[in-house]
Amino acid sequence: MTNRNISISRKKMAGSEADMLVSLPFLDENDSMVNASTEVDSELANAFKLGDFKAEKGEKILLYPKGNSRKKSSPRRVLFVGLGKVEGKDVNELRELLRKSGGIAASAARKTGSSRVALRLPDIPGFSGEATVESLIEGILLGDYRFDKYKADSKKKKKEFTGIKEIVVYPSSAKGKIQRGINRARNAALAACKARDMANEPGNRWTPASFAGYARSLAERYKMKCSVLGKGDMKRLKMGGLLGVNQGSAEAPKLVILEYKAPAKKADTILFVGKGLTFDSGGVSLKPAAGMEDMKYDMCGGAAALSVMAVVGEEKPEVNVIAIIPATDNMGGSSALKPGDIIKHYGGITSEIVNTDAEGRLILADSLAYGIKRYKPTCVVDLATLTGAVILGLGHHRTGLLGNNQDLIERIIEAGDKSGEPLWQLPLDKEYAEQIESDIADIKNTGGRPAGTITAAAYLQKFVGETPWAHLDIAGTAWDFTKKTYIPKGPSGTAVRTLVELVRGWKKLR
Ligand code: BES
Ligand code: MN
Ligand code: ZN
Repeated sequence: MTNRNISISRKKMAGSEADMLVSLPFLDENDSMVNASTEVDSELANAFKLGDFKAEKGEKILLYPKGNSRKKSSPRRVLFVGLGKVEGKDVNELRELLRKSGGIAASAARKTGSSRVALRLPDIPGFSGEATVESLIEGILLGDYRFDKYKADSKKKKKEFTGIKEIVVYPSSAKGKIQRGINRARNAALAACKARDMANEPGNRWTPASFAGYARSLAERYKMKCSVLGKGDMKRLKMGGLLGVNQGSAEAPKLVILEYKAPAKKADTILFVGKGLTFDSGGVSLKPAAGMEDMKYDMCGGAAALSVMAVVGEEKPEVNVIAIIPATDNMGGSSALKPGDIIKHYGGITSEIVNTDAEGRLILADSLAYGIKRYKPTCVVDLATLTGAVILGLGHHRTGLLGNNQDLIERIIEAGDKSGEPLWQLPLDKEYAEQIESDIADIKNTGGRPAGTITAAAYLQKFVGETPWAHLDIAGTAWDFTKKTYIPKGPSGTAVRTLVELVRGWKKLR
């Protein structure tokens, strides 16, 4: 999938030359510890008896098979990560618990320099082996992520630990489609890591052209169709939003389009539109200096949309999927858009620019209108780091979700719950659109302070018409996400796994 090289395989027997074996004991209804057998069973039982290890969730203990009794096939270390009482937990709770446990295993592997990890699957009553292995591997791969390519000593570090290279899964007595779980985890988690990579690259290293380049490479690898519209095309199509935002910048804008065609002729079409703002200075309505460097992350929506396409290319679902990424930065050069200016969007709607920092909706508006007109999708989902207001409302835990189709919205919420990326729906009554009425143009680009996330969505809604549509405001969750063992500091890769889940097993909307 990505250039991260990791082999994940299955074996019948434990042991191998693993640097670390991971085992996940849990408590049954009588508070007895249930543990898949390992080389250090009696040592673990001792620790449990002494109360040093209670097998509670999040707890861990590292034990070492004794030198002389150690078989050749034994691992060097055995890490136990407790799961606590699993009885009565719902499946999404168990998934998240296992993902977090995977994250704990990843940091233990890093600390001990264990690049070859053996994983002994716990056999959790009422929970499939497929879901068990999927969640654990997701947690391990997501948790093991680091971005250190710009560290001068990274060459030296190459000799040290550079991430987990091999995971061997031992499905004890776990039943189910283990290989399928491994594949799903690997595809989704590595795609989310790729989205993090794009986000970590700063504005001078990840430009609109970089989006185009990555989309082209995916198109080639997976036989998808890629088109990249340049400034000339945008002028011809009268995309005043994207051109307007770009006009204060020296960096050329790109509208990147990647199309996957399902094998079946008569499949639905899902359109993803991701905000690819490679740096948001605010433009003439300049942002304050403190924390402005984080605005290199303003392309996380676009990164997620392309990452989803990588999984789509890999898994080939029974639905057409198209991703559109409007990509530009937002700078305040001498030809920049000014407050008071009026632009005309693709399709003809005019907009009064009250604040040049409300640029995301301008580039999304053109893209939504164009994508819908051109591809006539069954539904459209846009995702964007769109408003600071969503952080005030939902903090860094839930993604804001709005739209015009309740079935689509509920499916996304469900997919998010399953993925450990919770969302929360906000209302979108037509009354909110009154805040973006302009005296001089069709609409204006901000609705003032009240309900900033909703009025931004109301702006987008003007461009989707009757097409079923959902909008994810990931400004609070794309980085600084709720602390989790499997989400290192920095960009989270949020929404990738949720939207992958939405696409998998797609069914017609009600
Ligand atoms: N990219 C920002 C939103 C943002 C802010 C994301 C903070 C993550 C953290 C967006 O382009 C923006 O500047 N929005 C303005 C809109 C306002 C001017 C109506 C905002 O939220 O302040
Ligand atoms: Mn902005
Ligand atoms: Zn922005």
